Order: sequence, then C-alpha cells, then structure tokens
Amino acid sequence: MASNRPADSSTEPLHRQLYTRLREDILARRLAPGSKLPSTRALAQDLRLSRNTVLGAYDQLLAEGYLECRQGSGTYVAQALPEGPVKTTAGLPKKSRAPRHVSKRGRLLARTPLMAPHEIPPGAPDPISFRPGVPAVDAALLKEWKRASRRLDRLPGRLLGYGPPEGHETLRRAVAAYLATARGVRCSYEQVLIVNGSQQALDLASRVLLDPGDPAAVEEPGYLGAKGAYAAAGAKIVPVPIDEAGIALDRMPKGARPRVVYVTPSFQYPLGVTMPLPRRLALLDWASRTGAWILEDDYDSEYRYAGRPIEALQGLDEDGRVIYMGTFSKTVFPGLRLAFVVVPPDLIEPFAGARRLCDHHSPAFEQAVLAQFLEDGRFVRHLKRMRAMYRRRQEALIAAVRERLGGLVEIRPADAGMHVLAWLPPGWDDVRAATHAARAGIETLALSRFCLRKPARGALLLGYTALEEPRMREGVRRLAAALQTFKG
Ligand SMILES: Cc1ncc(COP(=O)(O)O)c(C=O)c1O
Repeated sequence: MASNRPADSSTEPLHRQLYTRLREDILARRLAPGSKLPSTRALAQDLRLSRNTVLGAYDQLLAEGYLECRQGSGTYVAQALPEGPVKTTAGLPKKSRAPRHVSKRGRLLARTPLMAPHEIPPGAPDPISFRPGVPAVDAALLKEWKRASRRLDRLPGRLLGYGPPEGHETLRRAVAAYLATARGVRCSYEQVLIVNGSQQALDLASRVLLDPGDPAAVEEPGYLGAKGAYAAAGAKIVPVPIDEAGIALDRMPKGARPRVVYVTPSFQYPLGVTMPLPRRLALLDWASRTGAWILEDDYDSEYRYAGRPIEALQGLDEDGRVIYMGTFSKTVFPGLRLAFVVVPPDLIEPFAGARRLCDHHSPAFEQAVLAQFLEDGRFVRHLKRMRAMYRRRQEALIAAVRERLGGLVEIRPADAGMHVLAWLPPGWDDVRAATHAARAGIETLALSRFCLRKPARGALLLGYTALEEPRMREGVRRLAAALQTFKG
C-alpha cells in the first residue's frame, strides 16, 4: 500500500502522484484484486494529505476501472484485472536494444537527405542567421493578417467540419486568378490543390508519379526537399548539372530516362540562374518526347528586382507535362504551412486521393483567412512592400560584404530571390567555413550541402530578407572576423 506521502517537490499535483502510486501497486499485485482500501479519511490522515487529494486519486482509479465501490462497504481493488502481476515502469518505456522491424520505406525515411541543419551550436554568442528563404514577418503583416481573420468573425459552419482534400474553393479560385495575372499560369481553379507547404506537394508528387527504383532527376546543386521526397519514394536520384541557363539536359547521364524532373526555372535554387526561353522550350519538348513529368517549383518568383518578371514554365506547356507549385511560406510566413500545386487535369484525382489518405486537407480556418487576404488585395500590396524592402536589404548586404570581406569573397547582386552567394577563395572548404562562422554565432549555409558531388568552388548562401540592416551589418562584421581567422 502507498504508505509514503507523495513528494511535495514533484511538479505533479499530489492527487496525481497518489493515483500513479496506487495504480502501480495494483498492477504489480502489491494490492491484490478484491482487497479493501482504507477509507479516504483514514488514508488522508495516514499520509498527512487533504481528503480532497485522496478523493481525487480514488475517483480517477474508479473511473478507469482499477477500483470498485461496494455500496455501504467501501472501496476495493477491482476483481476483473488480468491474472498475475503486470510489469510497469514509472518512467518512459525503455528503448529497445535489438533493432526492430520497420518497412523498407521506413528505413528510407530515416535516411532521407534532410534540410540543411541549423549550424549554430548551443551557447554560441548572440546568434545572427543568414539562413536563406526566411521572409520578414513584421508588425504591418501581422496587423493585416489579423484584419483578414477578423473578417471571418461569423464562421460558416462548413469551415468547422471536414472539407474537400483539394482545398477551400474560394482560396483555389483566388490562387488561380492570382497565378494567371502574376505568373502566366494557365489553369482552371479545379486544377489548383491547396497543400501544407510545397514540401507536401513534392511528397504527393513522388507518391503519385514514382515507383521504387524509378529514375527521378534533380538539379545539381539542388533543393534537398526534392531529393528527400524522391528518396523516400525509393526513386533513383539522377543529378543533372546546372549551367548558365539552368538544368543542362544535354549533360543528363546517358540512358537515364527519368520519369520526373524537378526544376526551379525562375531562380535556380541555390545558384540563382534564371532559365531563358530557349532552354524552357527545350525542356518542355524533351518532356513531351520522353513522357517525363516536370515539377516546376516557383518558390520565390515574386521577388524579382530587375528586369521583367519571367512567366512560369507552366504557361508555355501545351502538353500538360508540368506540375507547378508555389508556396505562401515565402510570401506570407512559413508557419502558415500553406502552398498550392497546379496539376494537369488527369492528375487531380490521384493527388486528391493521396492527400485524403495523408491528412484529409489543410486547416480550413487558415485557408479561409488566406483567401480573404488574397481577395482583399492585401496579399498583392504586401508583396509590393516586401519586394521594395528586400531589394534595399540585398543592396545593404552586398555593400557590407564588399566593405568588410572585399578581398576575400566574391559576391554579385542577384536579380531575384531571397539570398546571394558569397564565393570563397578557391580551395576553401565551404562546410568547414560555415561551421567555423557558426561557432562565432553566424549562421550561413554552405553550397556543398546542396550538392551530391563536391562543387568546383565553395560558397556560402547568405539570406538577407529577414534581417534588419543594422543587424545585418553586425552579422557581416562578425562573419568577416570569423572568415579572416579561418585557414581554408
Ligand atoms: C527551393 C524551395 N522550394 C520550396 C521551399 C518552401 O517549402 P515549404 O512551402 O514547404 O515551406 C523552399 C524553402 O526553403 C525552397 O528553398
């Protein structure tokens, strides 16, 4: 019997501690089935607890069937418990020592290439992050977002139940209209599926389009999220080099015949090349001839600072080979986890089926707020403001790097995107340079992290969009100090 008083030092309430102890005594048969428990008053006195504490523990055990009350007689340990003592541990279940069975897919999932890790070790001084692709989330955006959600004060009941896997119809219509005018995407709203981030679009595409062992092409260097989704589907990854016009199809390994190719034509991730029209047409022609699908990831095309915005590859596609995806992670905020994928009509059903099995659909309330945000014109106004802010921030970053690191790294302005590349002196190992900077509290990403083969020259990706200028200058000053003490 739990004769010791529960410890006052525990963070758990006393009634919960008493409950746990009695439950363990019952399961371990230290309290036999059918045995009588002391009255709550007697036990409270014995353990110097309040009677309410004991009542709380007894009530819980009664509700869970460990105890039973007999009218006029008292409280007993339930008779109907399994034979013999049940082993319990007070703490968490122990990790199994021998490896236990998981599926081949499970093993692949455990090994998939992950997003580049956060580099800053715990305890590093005052961290400043140049991590690319992180948007500025300022007070003005939050105010606009709140305003859009307030307009949904009277929630229609249908928003609170299950919704369609393809997404909220108003949002799909608003996205289709936006994509037609801003990105030259040609589609009906039925082809627009709302997903939880473009990562989910990549995962769904890999499930729907790839069987284990199928070849699937990626840009080299390229986005780890695409490689990870392919790898998890058991596909054979085919890296295709990038040249000055983007993915170099003529350098695809001979006989590879990929079923899918992942590309970022607006601003190649991470090198920042924009694919010109002749290469776009060649890519579409190649896909038509070989029957391959093209995954077009238009992840940050909204941020173009020079020249005319370049329309999406999807808008040139006559053969329905392009699966186009974009995300609100870069244009609103990443925690929203909303993105869209525009699929050719014959892929709507398999994508919707995969989605239903995965998680039914994206949260309905957030979809409705986002639809409101787009429909009110707030989204386009927000983008315009961000574009101007990011252009200024990129200029400030380049000026600071040239001032502090001019003799060491090479940096060129980018016409688009959310990061620039700082090319390191030939022979420098960029992963080691990034690790060295991280120890000084400066987070950057090494280009090599995005490569299956080591690149000819190392570089650091410097994201600038989320950093206010004074903080950014301080970051560059500390990065310069770190790189000056780095020995290649
Ligand atoms: C190339 C690329 N695509 C897509 C994304 C966005 O992914 P998600 O929409 O899942 O946040 C990122 C984010 O870093 C990216 O770099």
